[in-house]
Amino acid sequence: MKLKELYLSLIKEGKKYQINELDIRFLIMDLLDMDFASSFYLNLDQEIKDTKVIEKGFQQLKDGVPLSYISNKAYFLGDIYYVNKDVLIPRAETEELLALAVKRINEYYPNKKNLNILDIGTGSGVIAIKLKKEFPDARVDATEISEKAIKVAEHNIKNHHVKVNVYHADTFPNNKIKYDIIVSNPPYIKFKKDVDQSVLDYEPHSALFISKQNNVYQKVFESNRVKSPCLMLFEIAPNIVDELKELMNRKIDQYSFNFSKDINGKVRFLTVLI
Ligand SMILES: C[S@@+](CC[C@H](N)C(=O)[O-])C[C@H]1O[C@@H](n2cnc3c(N)ncnc32)[C@H](O)[C@@H]1O
Repeated sequence: MKLKELYLSLIKEGKKYQINELDIRFLIMDLLDMDFASSFYLNLDQEIKDTKVIEKGFQQLKDGVPLSYISNKAYFLGDIYYVNKDVLIPRAETEELLALAVKRINEYYPNKKNLNILDIGTGSGVIAIKLKKEFPDARVDATEISEKAIKVAEHNIKNHHVKVNVYHADTFPNNKIKYDIIVSNPPYIKFKKDVDQSVLDYEPHSALFISKQNNVYQKVFESNRVKSPCLMLFEIAPNIVDELKELMNRKIDQYSFNFSKDINGKVRFLTVLI
């Protein structure tokens, strides 16, 4: 079967399952080791001898498996990272968090000497790796409670040739360091009903849900592991804004804060300066 026929038949079938064309094209390109969209279109007449592997991948898409878990690839700010079901697939909102963090760090720390930066809940490692690339002279640490996720982060750190120290720890590493900057996308979802079914089915729940026992914001606001000043940037959900205001009020003495929106107009980021 020619690539074009296969592609068109999968698009037709995919429509019944709300699978978009782009996911089908990326799946095929990934499984046929094609790097650029142009190589896909230039090879539409290519004969595909063994369609089984593509059909298997397509079946996974039909089952609702996110493309990134099929291809083990996620794109984050132009770079490619390895992901598997042990880590959250990095989101566009987190790309925005990173852009905001880089902007604020440049404003508050123009000379960038001896900065200690911490990424809490590093997952695949994207935040910590990107921060180290942006601020090569800073010490960048990352914590993660899931041992399986740490393996993924370490794999990405090695592949991206950066020095990031990853700790299997709850919120802060087991060292004596106090941090100048905290950037974190912690679990922040309160209710299952706020999450798509495929996310619930396939992504790690420990990465998603905030709870009384695991509220990373609270753990940070209560801690004595931050310097004065300390710049904190968090990703948040719009429906926890009031709780966060109340928490800051109760747990921190002197601080200023700012909530900002993502590109879709949802309150998504909290910047705190202590
Ligand atoms: C929303 S995911 C973010 C992953 C990654 N930073 C990203 O933005 O794609 C949250 C991550 O925090 C980890 N985590 C949850 N509670 C934690 C805690 N108390 N301390 C450290 N890591 C935690 C989870 O295992 C998960 O990998």
